[in-house]
Amino acid sequence: MKSASLTLSIVLLLILSGCVETPGEQIISESVASEDWAPDGVVRENEYSRTMVVVGPARSGYSGGEMEISWRNDQEHLYMALRGKTSGWLSIGFDPLEWMKDADMILGTVEDGEAIVLDEYSSGNYGPHEDDTFFGGSYDILESGGLEVDGHTVVEFKRRLNTGDKFDEALTPGQSVSIIWAMADSKSRYTKHNVAYGEAILVLASGDETAIDQISGTSAATLSPREEEGVLFIWEEEKVARDLYKELYRETEQSIFMDLARSEQSHMDQAKTLIDKYDLKLPVKDEPGVFSNSTLINLYKELLARGMQSQEDALKVAATFEEISIVDLERELKVADNDDMRVVFQGLLAGSRKHLRSYVMDLQDMNIEYTPQYMSPREFDEVVKD
Ligand code: HEM
Repeated sequence: MKSASLTLSIVLLLILSGCVETPGEQIISESVASEDWAPDGVVRENEYSRTMVVVGPARSGYSGGEMEISWRNDQEHLYMALRGKTSGWLSIGFDPLEWMKDADMILGTVEDGEAIVLDEYSSGNYGPHEDDTFFGGSYDILESGGLEVDGHTVVEFKRRLNTGDKFDEALTPGQSVSIIWAMADSKSRYTKHNVAYGEAILVLASGDETAIDQISGTSAATLSPREEEGVLFIWEEEKVARDLYKELYRETEQSIFMDLARSEQSHMDQAKTLIDKYDLKLPVKDEPGVFSNSTLINLYKELLARGMQSQEDALKVAATFEEISIVDLERELKVADNDDMRVVFQGLLAGSRKHLRSYVMDLQDMNIEYTPQYMSPREFDEVVKD
């Protein structure tokens, strides 16, 4: 694990272009990768240039845990380490369309002292997932290695940014890529992620390994009153989404609402890890349809009433709610300095963008064009065409 003293910065890069704002990018900690990369299962202090810790809460079916993702890249290659408290598998997936679908996945475990690193593709939202070669693609992990020590597993691998395989995401230096991650306590690829899973944004370096691209600020170990307010608000907003989608499912029986209500539950759980860690109090009991924030109460009532009118209205209000969620998360990220909060909120933002895309795609399947209500047309297009 990298020492905190060598951790140089948290970076918040908000790109303002005209009056249109694109979502913030983040790097959690950054240092110069001055050591040679070696896939030996040990993440040395200066082996990687960027590190981020992602956390999934304990809940029904999940024991909970965190995974440390370390990476560096040049113009051609990506080098990565996944480290977590498990003796099972760890995995990262690049750029899913929704849930796990269409993600370019890499899944690794260590068995009898040897790392087994798979190059997989998720053809659907329900695992287990197949190797790229199963679909006619290629195995593109150039080098890999790993170690399992004291119940912690590290898997390291190298691949081309752009492998040329259509079942791999063509990554580019400097790109912010939406990722999913997961861990299981079993070494079998057929066992579901029963430790934790989640979403995040990973920012690749521009390609000059010796340079640190952007630096600003230092990490705060506490939450400011403003940040606390933001955490509580976002937890409640995710609850509105979950409760709204559950009601819309009851009315319309469209499976997307049940799937995304489940996903919103996981978003609430992720926000709750912050509430628990920073000793905050839930703004309201977790009972269906019960909220404390008056804006959210009114929004829930209004969207539910509109959504109940037809299948089309249900999908439209859900898309609108995701837009609001995106705008709110972006606003909170602008003022958030705390590392934990930034990682969780970036993950939630990646999730909301996927949800918006899913609702808009379902409307398109019904030949209905959705017009953004809260996002700028430019940002909306970027999300939907991602
Ligand atoms: C045996 C392999 C796998 C199975 C059977 C599986 C199954 C599932 C199922 C059923 C869900 C729905 C939510 C739930 O039931 O908890 C889900 C969600 C999810 N899975 Fe997997 N999965 C597998 C592998 C993976 C891998 C390798 C990754 C990461 C690279 C991953 C990332 C996720 C994420 C992020 C979600 C939540 C998506 C969202 O809420 O938007 N899964 N998975």
